[in-house]
Amino acid sequence: MRRPIVAGNWKMHGSRGENARLIEDILGGYPAHAGAECVVCPPFVYLQEVRRMLRDSPIALGAQDTCAEAHGAFTGEVSAGMLKDIGCKYVLAGHSERRLIYRESDQLIARKFAAAHAKGLVPVLCVGEQLSDREASRTEEVIGRQLDVVLELCGPEVLGQGVVAYEPVWAIGTGRNATPQQAQDVHAFIRARIAARDARIAADTRILYGGSVKAGNAAELFAMPDVDGGLIGGASLKADEFLAILAAAGPG
Ligand code: PGA
Repeated sequence: MRRPIVAGNWKMHGSRGENARLIEDILGGYPAHAGAECVVCPPFVYLQEVRRMLRDSPIALGAQDTCAEAHGAFTGEVSAGMLKDIGCKYVLAGHSERRLIYRESDQLIARKFAAAHAKGLVPVLCVGEQLSDREASRTEEVIGRQLDVVLELCGPEVLGQGVVAYEPVWAIGTGRNATPQQAQDVHAFIRARIAARDARIAADTRILYGGSVKAGNAAELFAMPDVDGGLIGGASLKADEFLAILAAAGPG
């Protein structure tokens, strides 16, 4: 049984006041029995304060990125051990904005994934093709490569203790989501790629969809057999939208 996850990626949004209101509204409307595990990923500087607000709540804390190194002279970086220390459970690795804007390589992302796992965090490996890849029928090639680098470095056991998020770059922040069938096809491909190494682990690995998920399209996406919840950007900043997406992942 794969329990779905609905994770909010706040990106570089929020302020102390906005965060407090958002968390208060989410907790105020939080269902008594949520089918999905709920996660919020605020910017680094707000993690501890948001953690305090989430105390005794069922919502888990996640970070948006981590350094691949454990400690040392890496000005501006935050290690996985530090994230664990302040109460994070999850951390994203390889969000497309990190890959594209900050030129993070597949290798670096695999090392981040490994570093997070080693410190007891649950890393969320984000994979996804650009529009030009899809138009050139290279979606599986790109996603296969992004996955294989992590499988090579960490092995299927470690990958399966994390989470995979399929986020087509052309669907992120564009309002244009993948159709449920497009998402399902890639999710099935990802699961098969893991199954080629270990079928049992593949069957248990949670694969989230991300890219313009909203209250209005979440249920049909989450209904697909290989879609185990979502990674939500813009809609995670609105309590009512986020709660509706959480509800779309099913009752407890
Ligand atoms: P979006 O972002 O929901 O705003 O498209 C998703 C993401 O980048 O994780």
